[in-house]
Amino acid sequence: MGIKELVGKLNRRVMPQLEKGLKAIPPINRRIEAQYDEMMAGLDSSLKPYRGEFETYERLPVNGRSHQEILDEMATFKKLEQARWQDGFVSGAVYHGDNEHINFLNQVYTLHSQSNPLHADVWPSTSKFEAEIVSMTAHMLGAGQTRPGYAVDEEICGTMSSGGTESILLAMKTYRDWARDKKGIKNPEMLVPVTAHAAFDKAAQYFNIKMVRIPIDHNFRADWTAVRDLITPNTIVIVGSAPCYPHGVIDPIEEMSTLALKHGIGFHTDACLGGFVLPWAKKLGYAVPPFDFRLPGVTSMSADTHKYGYAAKGTSVVLYRGMELRRYQYFTVTDWPGGLYFSPSFAGSRPGALSAACWAAMVSLGEDGYLAATQKILETSAKIREGIASISGLRLLGHSLIVHAFTADEFDIYRVMDFMSKRHWGLNGLHKPSCVHFCVTYIHTQPGVAERFIEDLQEAVDYVKAHPDEAGELAPVYGLAATIPMRGVVSDILKRYIDKIYEV
Ligand SMILES: Cc1ncc(COP(=O)(O)O)c(C=O)c1O
Repeated sequence: MGIKELVGKLNRRVMPQLEKGLKAIPPINRRIEAQYDEMMAGLDSSLKPYRGEFETYERLPVNGRSHQEILDEMATFKKLEQARWQDGFVSGAVYHGDNEHINFLNQVYTLHSQSNPLHADVWPSTSKFEAEIVSMTAHMLGAGQTRPGYAVDEEICGTMSSGGTESILLAMKTYRDWARDKKGIKNPEMLVPVTAHAAFDKAAQYFNIKMVRIPIDHNFRADWTAVRDLITPNTIVIVGSAPCYPHGVIDPIEEMSTLALKHGIGFHTDACLGGFVLPWAKKLGYAVPPFDFRLPGVTSMSADTHKYGYAAKGTSVVLYRGMELRRYQYFTVTDWPGGLYFSPSFAGSRPGALSAACWAAMVSLGEDGYLAATQKILETSAKIREGIASISGLRLLGHSLIVHAFTADEFDIYRVMDFMSKRHWGLNGLHKPSCVHFCVTYIHTQPGVAERFIEDLQEAVDYVKAHPDEAGELAPVYGLAATIPMRGVVSDILKRYIDKIYEV
């Protein structure tokens, strides 16, 4: 073991104790807190730009305001915020963005704004929408094609959820309960690539499942050859992404799910990002490796309707191979004085209007709509990728269709991100390794967006190369946050950031 590795290991073990010890000393704690306060005050202008500009409500207004006044104020907020994403400056975030499409979804939302799937008797239309959304998604992802003459218990089924995170949480809870019931596993473990979404960490924390990390190879894909040695009698599920958020690469789902099948373990494909792109990309002739239920080892999937499904934010689909597995997700209570109670997912009451709008998005687009949108996105994406590759000094990480992660070996990539922010571009800053990414969506297919992105990126690189001694604005913060061994401090800062969001 080298010195660097040793220090790294010591840091990981010693640092949390050291941090805790230091914070227990009152004068040191006071100084740390004062520094946090100072740091947070610096965020006021970006996080609370409306303070002093608009009325602030710490308490209910004594007299209610008029509808028109509120609508006018809402329109002002919309106008102030829309320009940034509407012109295609933001990575990911808005996946369709076309005005006609948005107005159509809003009309549907308005028609169903009072509906609640918890009361299926009052709003049976919502049940229809949800069942059909799940079925349409399942049939995009291999349902009916699992194997010739597939057994009834292999029917691909699922439920709706509020987003990718909830779909992932639901699936992990399902495996925990399934493994406890079927295998008597009391100390469950999940095998998850280091690049899988943070929602898997959330699941591990919430449901007390031990997180075991699968390393990645030089192509940023999960190293499936390491998986065999990580499987234990307590392993309940193996996870792969199609693709992963950071670098947009697709893990070797076939190899990993085959291992899972061999060991009688669940396998979850997280297709939150790719579920509504990869099926169409494949039909358009792009090289897409197998990733869905057509692989016999894949036992569950997450696919986000509110990303490339082009629905409004707040919907996703979680799918299972077989009804029996799905039932471990459900919640029922039979002795509550409030009556018999059941719900498929975490929430009780849910916004049926979002399901109505999601159904409307899918049915209005149809296969031809998704194919056309995907073709435009992939063409724009290829243009952007080629542009990044052509800029001397930048290096693309991994192979991806829609998310382009890149870094620089001779200068600070976060300074490039800083420069791009000044040009209004919202790149996502990543770390381990330090890099940034840009996720291409339908909104970037507007004429001129790809060209503007590449021109600004070239200028950003030229500027950073010509001014090697400048520190940049957020670049030092990103750099520090990526490398500082005191992860507790970083976590504290993030928690204070959330506090800040909830400051009036
Ligand atoms: C691969 C992947 N999985 C899960 C998620 C979580 O989705 P959500 O933000 O809808 O909870 C994301 C979000 O970007 C993602 O890219």
